Amino acid sequence: MPLILDGKAAAAAIRERLQQEVQMLAGQGHRPPHLAAILVGNDGASETYVFAKKKACDAAGFFSSVIRLPEEISEEALLAEIHSINHNPDIDGLIVQLPLPAHISEQAVMDAITPEKDVDGFHDRNIGKLAKGNPDFIPATPLGILLLLQHYGIDPEGKHCVVLGRSNIVGRPLSILLSLPGKNGNATVTLCHSKTQNLYRHTKNADILIAALGRPRFVGADMVKPGVVMVDVGITRVDAPELKSGYRLHGDVDFEAVSPLCEAITPVPGGVGPMTIAGLLMNTMKARRLQLQLQSHIA
Ligand code: GUN
Repeated sequence: MPLILDGKAAAAAIRERLQQEVQMLAGQGHRPPHLAAILVGNDGASETYVFAKKKACDAAGFFSSVIRLPEEISEEALLAEIHSINHNPDIDGLIVQLPLPAHISEQAVMDAITPEKDVDGFHDRNIGKLAKGNPDFIPATPLGILLLLQHYGIDPEGKHCVVLGRSNIVGRPLSILLSLPGKNGNATVTLCHSKTQNLYRHTKNADILIAALGRPRFVGADMVKPGVVMVDVGITRVDAPELKSGYRLHGDVDFEAVSPLCEAITPVPGGVGPMTIAGLLMNTMKARRLQLQLQSHIA
């Protein structure tokens, strides 16, 4: 039986450490970190994610605000909301949940969030610093994956890590992080995408395989090497009329077929998802510390 990489348990351990840090801040007369999340429109999955983030903030003793804006909001009005939060000293971290409606430029939105509050790590400055090996904020999902591997003592150093998917949110930053020198890095990395030829040749060579494609059950038993560490980032809603919710969550990996071959594997749900939220909380605490440093410089 493979080792199940339990993201819920690892995230709970991180949340406990953050709770202690909140108490330390209180002891020094400082308020807890405050995360603001902007949610545009009524996409069901986005609502679930944002409210899971809010719940995790509450559990860690953080402040949180959810700003709901209508689907039809103009880009200009959304940018004005972001600027106002950028200048609000009571808020340390800001995320705008993606995807956004088609009439709003995601790039303009990412550029508008001040890098000091960009706890998603999507601003060009933060991506640039990450690429040069000196990150301020690591995007929450790649950070959560590295923390999960670390929690279970799985060191990428010297391993062949194969990342499926080159998204700005997961695949590309993760491939860079794994290749950087130092802790949680030093891996040999292959980044595969929709134009990769002979995909199986790469995946069957992976010591650590990370699937971040958003294609339910894409990775089958014939794609992996026995003994692989399998990280499943996918979480897609698939129609299931027989269930009350009307849907079932599927990862990018065919868990039943692949898991018997693995040394370790993340479940879906309960693997990478909770770790993404833990990564976001860690970034928000970092943003709080940054704000306090800035204030002490000004004072
Ligand atoms: N949509 C899917 N993943 C993410 C994420 O990590 N951050 C934001 N802001 N939106 C997302």
